[in-house]
Amino acid sequence: MPLRIGILASGSGSNAQRFFDLRRTGALTIDPVLLICNRPGAGALERAEQAGVPSLMLDHTKETERERYDRSLVAALKEARAELIVMAGYMRLVTPFFLDSFSGRVINIHPALLPSFPGMRGAADALEYGVRLTGCTVHFVDEIMDHGPVIIQAAVPVNADDDRDTLQARIHALEHRIYPQAVQWFAEKRVKIEGRQVRILPTATPRRTVASDGSWLVWPPLEEPF
Ligand code: GRF
Repeated sequence: MPLRIGILASGSGSNAQRFFDLRRTGALTIDPVLLICNRPGAGALERAEQAGVPSLMLDHTKETERERYDRSLVAALKEARAELIVMAGYMRLVTPFFLDSFSGRVINIHPALLPSFPGMRGAADALEYGVRLTGCTVHFVDEIMDHGPVIIQAAVPVNADDDRDTLQARIHALEHRIYPQAVQWFAEKRVKIEGRQVRILPTATPRRTVASDGSWLVWPPLEEPF
């Protein structure tokens, strides 16, 4: 049975698009049952519609009480019977009520190598700091922003001539590989969380992995076709 995923998004939705595309090719054994967006007019809504994925716009400016807002989110996700909640550019903190409702089943992607550069400007902060390597992280969500146990990370070099846009684009391209991989591990029931450590269980027959090169490194390694 495909894993039923609920997606939370606020922006362009390119990560959501990857899920839709890879579901279509059969690379991901998921069923995106609902996309919820908190911003009217966000690209993610349009992408869901194009892909035939049910979507819901819940404008957060109309409900300023955070838990009440999250109660609507939870109700919709439960009704859709979402098993894994995938935050893809969702620019809001969720409340303990939300996390308790989907305990151990909420994940996020962040455009930096956590615990470095949490917050809204991961890529830009890394560039301004002058780090030589940055990247992206898929992690479990807990009550603290960009803090839960790490599932997979990708590192990219920062080039001397990088600006925020070029660096962000390089990171984004890797997000589009590691996030589907992480979700597929969930679909295959291979993700085990032990305190802060996350273990990816092996398959009976080992999968072919994709070799990193000098322009990126992903760990644990990506498995084909990611
Ligand atoms: C990504 O950079 C992600 O790391 C961050 O928000 C951005 C979402 O991009 N959390 P998109 O909307 O999926 O294109």
